[in-house]
Amino acid sequence: MNNLSTFIPRRSPLNPQVEAVRLILGVKLSETHTRCLELLIRRRMDFFKLPYDSYLQLLKVDPEEQNLLRRDLTVNMTFFFRHPEHFDFLDDTLPVLLEQKRRSEKVSIVSVGCSIGCEPFSIAMAVSLAGLAERVKITAFDIDLKSLERAKSGKPFADFRLSNKPTAKLWVNLALKQGYMYESDAYHNLEFFQVSDTIRQMVSFMPLDILQEPPPEPADFLFCSNVLMHLDNSRVLEVFPQLYASVVPGGYILISPDESSAVRAVIAIPSDPGLPESIIQKYN
Ligand SMILES: C[S@@+](CC[C@H](N)C(=O)[O-])C[C@H]1O[C@@H](n2cnc3c(N)ncnc32)[C@H](O)[C@@H]1O
Repeated sequence: MNNLSTFIPRRSPLNPQVEAVRLILGVKLSETHTRCLELLIRRRMDFFKLPYDSYLQLLKVDPEEQNLLRRDLTVNMTFFFRHPEHFDFLDDTLPVLLEQKRRSEKVSIVSVGCSIGCEPFSIAMAVSLAGLAERVKITAFDIDLKSLERAKSGKPFADFRLSNKPTAKLWVNLALKQGYMYESDAYHNLEFFQVSDTIRQMVSFMPLDILQEPPPEPADFLFCSNVLMHLDNSRVLEVFPQLYASVVPGGYILISPDESSAVRAVIAIPSDPGLPESIIQKYN
């Protein structure tokens, strides 16, 4: 458990084998992404049953394989407690919303573009830490069936999936302390950890393409982070009003702080001085 809770990276980020692959892909990588790439390479070597040198040869001449790695490094990338300010906000605001509901009514929390589940599982941990698990319903959607399968599988996660932002560490440490996550067998030395069954059972996963239809669940909190940034402006203009319509009056849409300026410029909604730029409230 110490390894996970202290977050000391024990691998050199500039492992020369990972660096050779990075050069072929032509991408810039943060330390976390470097560790992710290392895991992806190992997985692909296992998949093809090839040693590293042969996999590198294959990668050099196979643009599809290169695209697969690039895609896994960007489009599907996700972390636990990725935007800690959103979990702080949920922690502060959920009790207020609950006060406005009848005792029997649940707050609906929706995660759109949930990838392999790190975001909705983080939500489940945050509400459990607040002692409010019984009063929320968490539904998570993604277009990618493989990611949904992975999310539902109960397979362990590599430790680079734990956000290492200082403010996220607080959340991660609390969740580890409560046993919502715990260390499991290592895979190629990449420190795997499990999400507890109690947390996993709090989330329902479903397929959805937000370009085709809005989330069917009316949401009090709609997490949609790092999804709109992959769409062009005309798509954002089509999709955002539908997401907005699926939020109950007074509810919130939470997008990534990394995309909030660009998205707000497209949808022409100014920031609310009382809220972080990445949180949009739907007024009554
Ligand atoms: C970068 S991940 C973000 C995961 C998570 N929200 C987070 O911030 O850590 C983007 C996810 O959006 C999903 N996605 C992309 N287009 C989508 C669409 N049209 N409908 C639903 N999900 C979509 C991708 O499959 C991917 O899992």
